[in-house]
Parts: sequence; structure tokens; C-alpha cells
Amino acid sequence: MKPTIVSGLKPSGKLHIGNYLGMTKQSIALQSSEEFNCYYFIADYHALTQKYKPSEKSAEIFDMAVDALALGIDPKKSVFFMQSDILEHANLAWLFDCITPTGKLQGMIEFREKIEEGQPANAGLLNYPVLMAADILMYKASFVPVGEDQRQHLELTRDIARTFNKKFGKIFPEPKGIFVEGLRVKSLDNPKKKMSKSLPKGCLYLTDSPEAIKKKVRSAVTDSGNEIIFDPDKKPALANLLLIYSEMSDTPIKEIIENHKGKGYKEFKDNLAEAVSSALASFREKRKEIASDSKKVRKTLLEGAEKARVTASKTLQEVKKKMGLI
Ligand code: ADP
Ligand code: TRP
Repeated sequence: MKPTIVSGLKPSGKLHIGNYLGMTKQSIALQSSEEFNCYYFIADYHALTQKYKPSEKSAEIFDMAVDALALGIDPKKSVFFMQSDILEHANLAWLFDCITPTGKLQGMIEFREKIEEGQPANAGLLNYPVLMAADILMYKASFVPVGEDQRQHLELTRDIARTFNKKFGKIFPEPKGIFVEGLRVKSLDNPKKKMSKSLPKGCLYLTDSPEAIKKKVRSAVTDSGNEIIFDPDKKPALANLLLIYSEMSDTPIKEIIENHKGKGYKEFKDNLAEAVSSALASFREKRKEIASDSKKVRKTLLEGAEKARVTASKTLQEVKKKMGLI
């Protein structure tokens, strides 16, 4: 049997190129290798752990599903669904809660960062990594493509699998993370911070128009001097722009530098904006087409949920039996 991969997308705002390059690009590419059984889902329950406007949430969830499809998730090749359509996820999370020490959850970096950011310290935010473990172990995933900042959550998933197997009998693999090593896109207005939805001014969104991209790139901070070189210590802002350029155009940084010998920041930035816009052109087209038929998107998700539910209910039964409930 092919190994399984599970990947979740949290609908808590528009996708930016940090999300794309740090996670979704490679996660979705795994589908084409046909070496894996792929499960992709919209992690809508996860999005409720932070402050949000109920009147905007369902549109945000829909937008994320459209983004995922436009980026290439193929419901014929992969199981694509909405987390909240599968009741077993929250149910399995509860069972895992009962074997997870609270100390481990309180020590999670993301939990502490979110509280520092001003998010309410609700039990959902604390238990978020347990729900993530349930998402992953439900389908007995062997691999999980995630961004660097999810490493600790994945470690907890492995701990939960190990604890469960030891206490109740082995049923779970210990899933491994697939990371885009060291890839951290920085904010356009501050190279010391990562590009993040919580700092919208520094984000290039996948849905930005070519004009918006040009404007944002032109006003991105740069370092002193005018020469195009790659030096993350001395010129961190320029290094970030070069990284974006290279990743979005699949061109080595060296080659970009070669092509910009004797040229200044202005020309470099215009070329970068052009490279980003053209890399996103087909995404923008596909997105428009998919978004125009919301019923079809919903139907696709429900069909995916039907497939996912078969495995989910089987796993839950198995877990309940092992834990002594049945
Ligand atoms: P944000 O930090 O903007 O709120 P999320 O926490 O929703 O983004 O992250 C979604 C995924 O994208 C995660 O797997 C995360 O590791 C990845 N990611 C987010 N921001 C970046 C970034 N600036 N560079 C690389 N990867 C990122
Ligand atoms: N926590 C992930 C993020 O913030 C989203 C997520 C939820 C996820 N459940 C998952 C990712 C399961 C991979 C597998 O990006």
C-alpha cells in the first residue's frame, strides 16, 4: 500500500507567498508523484482558535478552498475535504486530550507567541496541537508536509502516537514531517520579521493584482547601497527579495545576480514584480473560474468528506476499542 500524506490549510486570512513557498507549493506537488495517498483539508476548526469575525469566516473558508483548488489540488487524485464535515476529528482529539500532558501544550512556542500577539488564551488555542495530531493520525499518515514553524506540533503528534501505541497497543505510525528546509520568507517592510498574515503591510498575497504587486515591491524596504548582491547578514532585506525572486521564477539566485550586474534596485524591483506576477498569472485565472461556481466547490468538498469519513470512522472505532470504550 502507498504511504499516506496529510496536509491541512488553516483558513485564517488570505494566502501570502510565505505560505505558498514555505508549505503549499511543495505539499501540493507531492500529489503529482503518485507515490502517496494524499489527504488535503481545510482546517476550519483550527481557524476558530484566534480572534475572528463570524460574519467573515465562511467567506474566508470558501476562499481557502478555492485557493487550494486553483493551486492544483486535484480531487480526482487526492481526498480533499473540510475538517468540520468529519465529526471524527474533534472526537479523536478529545480521546488524545486524555493522554496528553497539559505541560507539553503550555510549552508550545506557537501557543505562547499567539498569546503575546494578543490572542485570547482559550482552551482551543492550547489544545490546537492535539486536534492537529488527530487530523494526521486519523488517516495514519506517514508524512506531513508543513512549514518550519509546525515542527513542534509534529513532534507532539509523534509523541501522542508513541504514547498511544505503548499504552493501548500499536495502531499508529509515527509520522515524519516534510519541510522546505530553512525557507522563511520575510516581511517586505521588515526583514527581521517573517511574512505573516498578522502583519498585512509586509505581505504579498497570491491574489494581489500585478499593479498591487508592483506597488508593494517598489516600496519594499531595501538596504543601503545600490548593488545587487546576496548577503543575508549585511543586506537582509535584499536577500529576502532575491529569495522570493529565485523561488517564484525557479531561477538560481546566482543567475539573477548575474542578470542584474550594473543595474540598480529600481530595475531589480520591477523585474522581481514582473516575475512574481507572471508566476501567479495562471493561478489568478484558475481562481476566478473556480470561484464563479461556489456550488461546485461545496459539492467537491462534500464528496471528499464522504471518502475521508470511511477511513475516519474506522480509525475512531479502532481507537475506542483499544481505549476500552467498546
Ligand atoms: P501566518 O504566519 O501568516 O499566520 P500560518 O501560521 O497560517 O501563516 O502558516 C501556514 C503555513 O505556512 C505554515 O505551515 C507555515 O509554516 C507556513 N508559513 C507561514 N509564513 C511563512 C513564511 N513567512 N515563510 C515560510 N513559510 C511560512
Ligand atoms: N497547524 C497547521 C498550520 O497552522 C494547519 C494544520 C492543521 C495542519 N492540521 C494539520 C497541517 C494537519 C498539516 C497536518 O499551518
